[in-house]
Amino acid sequence: MADETHSGELVTALEAALGADALVRDAADLARYESDWHHDYHGVARAVVRPRDAAGVAAAVRICAAAGVPFVPFGGNTGLVGATVPQGQGREVLIDMARLSRVRHVDPVGFTMEVEAGCVLEAAKAAAEAADCFFPLSLGAQGSCQIGGNIATNAGGVNVLRWGMMRDLVLGLEVVLPDGRLWRDLKRLRKDNTGYDLKQLFIGAEGTLGIVTAAVVKLFPRPEQVETALLAVASPADAMALYGLARRQCSDLLSAFELMTRVCIDLAREASPALGEPLDSPASHYVLLELSASGGVDLAALMETFLAVAMERGLVSDGVIAQSRQQAATLWAYREQLVEGQARRGHHMRSDISVPLTDLARIFDEGQRAIAALSPHLEPVAYGHVGDGNIHLNALARAGTPAADRDRLLAAAETVLFDLVDAADGSISAEHGIGLSKRAAFAQRLPPLDAELMRGLKALLDPAGLLGQGRILP
Ligand code: FAD
Ligand code: LAC
Ligand code: ZN
Repeated sequence: MADETHSGELVTALEAALGADALVRDAADLARYESDWHHDYHGVARAVVRPRDAAGVAAAVRICAAAGVPFVPFGGNTGLVGATVPQGQGREVLIDMARLSRVRHVDPVGFTMEVEAGCVLEAAKAAAEAADCFFPLSLGAQGSCQIGGNIATNAGGVNVLRWGMMRDLVLGLEVVLPDGRLWRDLKRLRKDNTGYDLKQLFIGAEGTLGIVTAAVVKLFPRPEQVETALLAVASPADAMALYGLARRQCSDLLSAFELMTRVCIDLAREASPALGEPLDSPASHYVLLELSASGGVDLAALMETFLAVAMERGLVSDGVIAQSRQQAATLWAYREQLVEGQARRGHHMRSDISVPLTDLARIFDEGQRAIAALSPHLEPVAYGHVGDGNIHLNALARAGTPAADRDRLLAAAETVLFDLVDAADGSISAEHGIGLSKRAAFAQRLPPLDAELMRGLKALLDPAGLLGQGRILP
């Protein structure tokens, strides 16, 4: 339990520095800080502070550091590895970034945007669009996740194959270091080879090396045309052949290529009953594909020509091309709602593996087979950003799974999957990161030299080890 006297002094110091309204006290308000998006983890914070600006974040950090109290940055709380949940029942201070939500500057000529870390991704995208620009990071949680969380997790999502991960989109950062100093590199340069690229250290560090308070990100011209299609394919192998064709036939205008198995459609419909059957008859696999372009390209003709070739080669048996933005949104709803559908089925095993593209179709099939072979209680769910080699290969516990067996079976499913990933020289986390939930599996695979370098970086930036304690590295 928390040391009440010590906590009292800490809270008084935080209040004096940040103002009384920066402390969250109401029990109902505190509840949202005590669990992750999937409610897999639970914990109680020592205190929750909501600073207004970078100086407030720095002040909170200095106070925690002086008191030797561990602290954790808290973004949109959509992370999928349990990292924002306070550990040690009243030991950690959460620093909620939501009030640092301003878009500071949009430059439609230089195609850059300076934005504070607590800005919700959807709001950042809207600010870009208002200037006839496009910020390409797109993921199902974009209505809640924040730019700072996206940077901390090096978020991926559905447009990576065209515009890259968050790391590829960041030009500059402003970061509060674990000792409370403010490190700033908010230059808007596309090219800068002066010394080590320090900002990259903080991207994907899952809030263990510094707290991001603002960033300069790249923008792109707003796509004026978008063509979206949902296609029935017979197998992952056909899906990957279709992907290869799309890469070569679509003038580099492919912006998304997602694969889903049939159960994904069922899960989406469970979460969102208004969704009907997407095609005339059910298929075993679906590809959701998008082309997008600015300028005067005839994108509809490009899509039609490409699909004609795909059908001629027998890669696609059925499909629909969205005729309106509304219809495109409905096609995307199958992809987005399936995550909610899984959540509704209760505790499950989630993965975000990546493998070389040439192995993807095999692992997609073998992973599901290996999970199903473990127990009839396990239901494999496979989908993902297959153009990036990234599969979410998950396992649900079917209704009727004995409660005593569930966690053991889900853990076994992860083990057989990770064995396949290792054999393919893949990664056990392509996009969600390590946090708390993948810590043991990560440590088991970490080469000693990598561990030494990572610990060295952590010790350099956070010698007291108070920031994001125990996340990534045990
Ligand atoms: P949080 O969950 O609040 O925090 C995540 C981590 O970042 C924690 O370690 C936290 O301490 C740290 N952190 C937060 N803010 C800061 C900051 N300002 N400075 C330093 N550290 C910070 N992820 C993908 O990559 N691709 C997807 O397609 C995708 N789809 C998703 C769909 C759904 C429905 C959900 C629920 C999640 C999805 N995610 C996806 C995961 C999640 O949305 C991303 O990891 C996102 O980047 C997390 O942002 P957040 O603001 O919610 O961070
Ligand atoms: C997705 C998340 C879970 O792609 O990464 O749906
Ligand atoms: Zn994903």
